[in-house]
Amino acid sequence: MTSMHQLLSLQELNPEQLQQLLQLALQVKQQPAAYQQALAGKSIAMLFEKPSLRTRVSFDVGIQKLGGHSVYLDQQNGDLGGRETVEDFGRNLACWTDAIVARVYRQSTLEKLAASSGIPVINALSDLYHPCQALADLLTLQETFGDLRKVQLAFVGDGNNVCHSLMLGAALAGMSLVVITPPNHGPDGHVLQQAQLLAAKTGAKLTLSHHLSEAHGSQAIYTDTWVSMGDSMDAAEQQQRFGAYQLSSEVLARLDIGYLMHCLPAHRGQEVTSELLDSQASLVLQQAENRMHAQNAVLIQLLA
Ligand code: CP
Ligand code: NVA
Repeated sequence: MTSMHQLLSLQELNPEQLQQLLQLALQVKQQPAAYQQALAGKSIAMLFEKPSLRTRVSFDVGIQKLGGHSVYLDQQNGDLGGRETVEDFGRNLACWTDAIVARVYRQSTLEKLAASSGIPVINALSDLYHPCQALADLLTLQETFGDLRKVQLAFVGDGNNVCHSLMLGAALAGMSLVVITPPNHGPDGHVLQQAQLLAAKTGAKLTLSHHLSEAHGSQAIYTDTWVSMGDSMDAAEQQQRFGAYQLSSEVLARLDIGYLMHCLPAHRGQEVTSELLDSQASLVLQQAENRMHAQNAVLIQLLA
């Protein structure tokens, strides 16, 4: 197996590497003591241009559990390209640290960081992708349903970062994914093409629709915020574009779907009702916990 050098997007993985990462994530989750020294002596910079709860804490605590050290650079210090160029930032971080975890506005910033630093860069969310989220989601689906090739997931909402990484993840895993978005909120054409190319090799099935009814019979349904960090839309416009796609227990019953997934943060009463989010059908906290295990597997593959 060729080894991973970075994780800017799931496009960098092949199906075998994805399977190995998921297997390692499960092992790290089940036998944490075996990995206590996996990152001994390693330092990781965590650079965030946008807010975060799950990503920041799961990386920080995860790195500590693997015996490594993390340095958090907040939005002020992380105002990339302001005080010094992104490339200078990357070159300097490489003087002291072994890897960079970065949450950025633009995917191109990650590419600049990777090229200038020469050390592994992990995408902690960009405009285009959220690979760490999708890895945790695949782990959650595997734990819940077993063989991913027999799973159908529906994604409902804005076809951007989380949706894109789920498309690539599903394609790599040979899973079925139905992507349901309002008109003009569909996934990026290039990402769709890449996911379809991968799907043709693995037997995955990707379907695009604007109709919630297309989710019928999926094992789980996934939603995300209507307006992503850095985007803006007034409340009336959000309701007009996305209102018909709100998920509730009644909608899941109608669609014959047993489980809800959400990357969080959730906007209760918008993309999902509180009663569904807090119900037995909700996998959201399992997803959140699995962020750490999936990311630890990535860190071990890259650095140990
Ligand atoms: N799901 C996720 O990435 O959460 P945060 O924005 O809180 O990190
Ligand atoms: N699409 C969302 C995901 C948050 C984890 C955003 O980019 O804000």
